[in-house]
Amino acid sequence: MRHFLNINSVNESDVLKLIQRALAFKSGVQPDQTNLTVSNLFFENSTRTHSSFQMAENKLGFQQIRIEPQSSSMSKGESLVDTLKTLKAIGVDVAVIRHNVTSWYESVLSAEGHAIPQLVNAGDGSGQHPSQSLLDLVTIYEQFGHFTGLNIRIVGDLMHSRVARSNAEILKRLGANMTFSGPENWLPKDFSQFGEFVAIDKEWEQLDVVMFLRVQHERITQTENQIFLTKQYHAKFGLNKLRYEQLKAQAIIMHPAPVNRDVEIADEFVEAPKSRIFEQMTNGVFARMAILEYTMETNHATY
Ligand code: CP
Repeated sequence: MRHFLNINSVNESDVLKLIQRALAFKSGVQPDQTNLTVSNLFFENSTRTHSSFQMAENKLGFQQIRIEPQSSSMSKGESLVDTLKTLKAIGVDVAVIRHNVTSWYESVLSAEGHAIPQLVNAGDGSGQHPSQSLLDLVTIYEQFGHFTGLNIRIVGDLMHSRVARSNAEILKRLGANMTFSGPENWLPKDFSQFGEFVAIDKEWEQLDVVMFLRVQHERITQTENQIFLTKQYHAKFGLNKLRYEQLKAQAIIMHPAPVNRDVEIADEFVEAPKSRIFEQMTNGVFARMAILEYTMETNHATY
């Protein structure tokens, strides 16, 4: 058993095996059934990640022990680490956790005393979103069959996006040419190690993949929210008709969702032929099956 906290802690060979395992599940390969127990602890709201982990767990045969952080003893002040020790003591093997604190798992892993379940990171603050990253990789690989030399641009609120942080690094490691666009105050300086910051329309017709990011109103300051102008943002950084039509025929559009329609992407292109947004959600179940199997180390592939 092992934790799954950051896709960039996994070597490239294992990432490719995870992608292939997810695609095998998608093609109908049946997983071995487990008799392990899992709890999903979501301290931040979620539709896709929460429900697709539940679906993946069902397909793998996990027993689910339901814990709602808001109605658990954490509301009485019990710490996350004591909650995890408690869950392990009563027989929970795996804990899937989404938390608003970036790198929440570091304090958990450094705690001494009783054992905790194996941890799967379902998104930490503005840190990492490794299961979203794997499903994005599955979606790109399904389209192109490789990553080397693909021109991939991530557009939007890079500063607050854990998806962007996970993807920028792993896609560069896998050989993609990464570029980034967005409002200047939302461009994290350290992203320059992964690729160049460019004007959104630069060499647009050469792009293979464009990933749009949700404007994370819940993470930006009140002042930024007050001055945010939807129409201006959409005109500067959104997918409109002209940009859609100028993409090459095989190019694809992605977004981790939820999408702010008519902000990051014009409503009419959210489900247009080049969009893979709902396919990403479908692939999320298979990617999360592969991740849970990897955590259990019970799959047929040798990692
Ligand atoms: N993409 C994503 O993480 O969506 P949810 O917040 O709905 O899980």
